[in-house]
Amino acid sequence: MRILSGIQPSGRLHVGNYFGMMDPAIRLQDEGEAFYFIADYHSLTTVHSPEELRENVRNVAIDFLACGLDPSKATFFRQSDVPEVTELSWLLSTVTPMGLLERCHSYKDKTARGHEATHGLFAYPVLMAADILIYDSNIVPVGEDQKQHLEVTRDIALKFNNRYGEVLAIPEPRIRQEYAKVPGLDGKKMSKSYGNTLELFGSEKATRKKIMSILTDSTPVEEAKDPSDSIIIDLYRLVASNAEVEAMENDYKNGGVGYGDFKKRLFSAYWDYFEPMRKRREELLADPGYVDEITREGASRARESAAATIKRVREACGIY
Ligand code: TYM
Repeated sequence: MRILSGIQPSGRLHVGNYFGMMDPAIRLQDEGEAFYFIADYHSLTTVHSPEELRENVRNVAIDFLACGLDPSKATFFRQSDVPEVTELSWLLSTVTPMGLLERCHSYKDKTARGHEATHGLFAYPVLMAADILIYDSNIVPVGEDQKQHLEVTRDIALKFNNRYGEVLAIPEPRIRQEYAKVPGLDGKKMSKSYGNTLELFGSEKATRKKIMSILTDSTPVEEAKDPSDSIIIDLYRLVASNAEVEAMENDYKNGGVGYGDFKKRLFSAYWDYFEPMRKRREELLADPGYVDEITREGASRARESAAATIKRVREACGIY
């Protein structure tokens, strides 16, 4: 079984990325042949500074390894180290109906928020389909926001197979429902583009400040509060034990504890949860050569697999 997923180096990784994709991907690396990559070609649609892109790629590589990606189990590489993927993207674009791309939320959202309406942004899902199909992927762990892109990938693969025969494997998304849409500090989906993220490896001071600034209602300390509609509890659930969550819920219902106190508990659980990963990250930062070597080796393995698919696809289309 081939498991594959990607992450854009478009900024610092956040808790949504971790629970929505990285943690499930890390758990899946024991269950099959895992391929995980840094989608640098994709991030060119929004990151336009070469220095920033290089820095982001480096940080994503270090952060993913620090979180537990094990290069002896999973193949870890940069998307752009396997240029065959852009060739497949073109070949797939010749079977992709315009209407399929016109319906994609991500293009509509990004252009509505002021991003330039480039062809790259519009064709983004075709390159993503190529990422998935070039490695004959079966399972793709992602958060809810990528569900439509997976549907587009499946449609494109079926179109291609319809025209040329059974050439491409049809992938399945794997979405972990309880973490499919991690909320941000304002209650909307956590996203770099909404500026509501809790970074995985932010400084202690900045992280505390962000958590303490979560907006709450003005219920006085002594009064009971509603635990069913609280961003603090939603985030706490990610990093605290069941007993700790239950205790916080009871304190909400009973009154006598203020939001400031709940936020302090959230910060402390959050900080402890990521402590081992922060330690590992420090070690990786001290050994830059190691990280480069991992992604270089990963790229060479990924390229072998991509070359076999592109050969099959070229032959199917009549390009020898
Ligand atoms: P990206 O870089 O935006 O996000 C990486 C992963 O994190 C998940 N995620 C979330 N999950 C739950 N709650 C959230 N608030 C949250 N925010 C982000 C995303 O769903 C994603 O799984 N297009 C992809 C990158 C990509 C890719 C691929 C993924 C390129 N090619 C091929 C899978 C297969 C993206 O922009 O993810």
